[in-house]
Amino acid sequence: KILILDFGSQYTQLIARCIRELNVYCEIQPCTKPIQWEDSIKGIILSGSPFSVNDPQAPVVDIKAMGDRVPVLGVCYGAQLMAKVFGGDVAKSAHREYGRASLEHNDKEEPLFYDISLTSQVWMSHADTITRLPEAFLPIAHTENIPVAAFKSHTLSKHPLLGIQFHAEVTHSLEGKQILRNFLVHICGIHQEWTPAAFVQETVSRIKAQVGDKKVVMALSGGVDSTVAAELIHKAIGGNLYCVFVDNGLLRKNEFETVLDSYKHMGLNVKGVNAKDLFYGQLSGVKDPEEKRKIIGRLFIEVFQQESAELKDIAFLGQGTIYPDVIESVSVNGPSATIKSHHNVGGLPEKMKMGLVEPLRFLFKDEVRRVGKEIGISDIFLARHPFPGPGLAIRILGDITPEKVTMLQEADAVWIDNLKESGLYNQVWQAGTILLPVQSVGVMGDERTYEFTVALRAVTSTDGMTADWAHLPYEFLAKVSNDIINKVKGINRVVYDISSKPPATIEWE
Ligand code: XMP
Repeated sequence: KILILDFGSQYTQLIARCIRELNVYCEIQPCTKPIQWEDSIKGIILSGSPFSVNDPQAPVVDIKAMGDRVPVLGVCYGAQLMAKVFGGDVAKSAHREYGRASLEHNDKEEPLFYDISLTSQVWMSHADTITRLPEAFLPIAHTENIPVAAFKSHTLSKHPLLGIQFHAEVTHSLEGKQILRNFLVHICGIHQEWTPAAFVQETVSRIKAQVGDKKVVMALSGGVDSTVAAELIHKAIGGNLYCVFVDNGLLRKNEFETVLDSYKHMGLNVKGVNAKDLFYGQLSGVKDPEEKRKIIGRLFIEVFQQESAELKDIAFLGQGTIYPDVIESVSVNGPSATIKSHHNVGGLPEKMKMGLVEPLRFLFKDEVRRVGKEIGISDIFLARHPFPGPGLAIRILGDITPEKVTMLQEADAVWIDNLKESGLYNQVWQAGTILLPVQSVGVMGDERTYEFTVALRAVTSTDGMTADWAHLPYEFLAKVSNDIINKVKGINRVVYDISSKPPATIEWE
């Protein structure tokens, strides 16, 4: 595997994804954490950073010690740090470089640049530049603005040290992935052998070894992660996996029944729990979004705990935690490591005092999908849009009543069905409807109406962190508007949300 040391760059996760896409396993760890050396580590990548290497509190690592064990590639800050610790100079550059640049290299024999065009577009983002390279380093590429865009040394440590000033991991570096591949394959000698099939095989035997003949309980949500995790555990231990699927009354129309059916079809040992009234009762009159979230999180834990208490001798808790949930992040206010906690199932582990089985803990979302496909999980799960844990509660602005839930479920079903029928569902990242707390006047037949407004939301995105509103055809929106107003009693007005994130968010609450 490859170890990526994170110095706090916004691009660190992209390095990891890029390497995973090359079918090589990698892990990210904060630069401040000591490396646990093991034979499986075949190379190290030093990430970029918001720091300047000249900042007094700039994080430093022992690159020589690393290079004595495996090849090391420094990216941006990583490269500057490499230059600086071996005696070079880094300074604020006269030519700040942000954006596209043309990388030029002349050495067809240089392994880092095998199959790379002699002039190749790369992406730069740095204020500092290497003004003097230590003698032991050889420059191997330049751009118009900077003489040292890439360099290497074979003499400073047992294994080669390489630095690149540009961000090979972003798609705007057109041949960046090939450069990373060259580092992995030609410099570290790694085989590109991560495959979903191998992952499944290895994971299933690991779960068998961990769990033995003990029992595992797990909450399912209908989403990709918990479904794929459950199926992997199920493959390992069969009927000793007990699943719980809670109907909080805030799911999409018919979702509970359909999904429960699909789970049973997969052969999972699953209990559907109808807790609608409990949720509606406690949410009654609550308007504040964060209050709603708290209540829903708390009730979910209560219901789940009660269900697991009824099952005897449960030793483990299964969870669909994925890698972005557990990567320790480097804080830019000082290189202290903080851990993002997994919020999907609101603090279950601490409370329940059980061992954890988390088969997807080291996978990115797209890898979860690939694994899901490998083990035959249906597209109903794999191609599904994200749906928030608190469900329709945060899509009904203001207080929640069962009548409003039904109204929104109907409108949402029309919206989603239309997206699917028109082939637009897979072109948007997430879609939903929001019931607004305003009533307005309308006219239907000869009757004056005074009813609710529904807002349609559809966004394009890659990770939900930023998003744009989906530019859907007017004719399509017109049809949906008509369908909703004709079919859903209580709604006489439909609007389309054309806000991007930022400054808006995807959900309205
Ligand atoms: P926002 O509204 O913050 O949403 O732009 C980004 C993504 O997160 C989802 N979301 C949630 N998911 N519990 C969840 O499990 C929540 O409380 C929650 N709030 C927002 C949202 O659906 C979108 O995919």
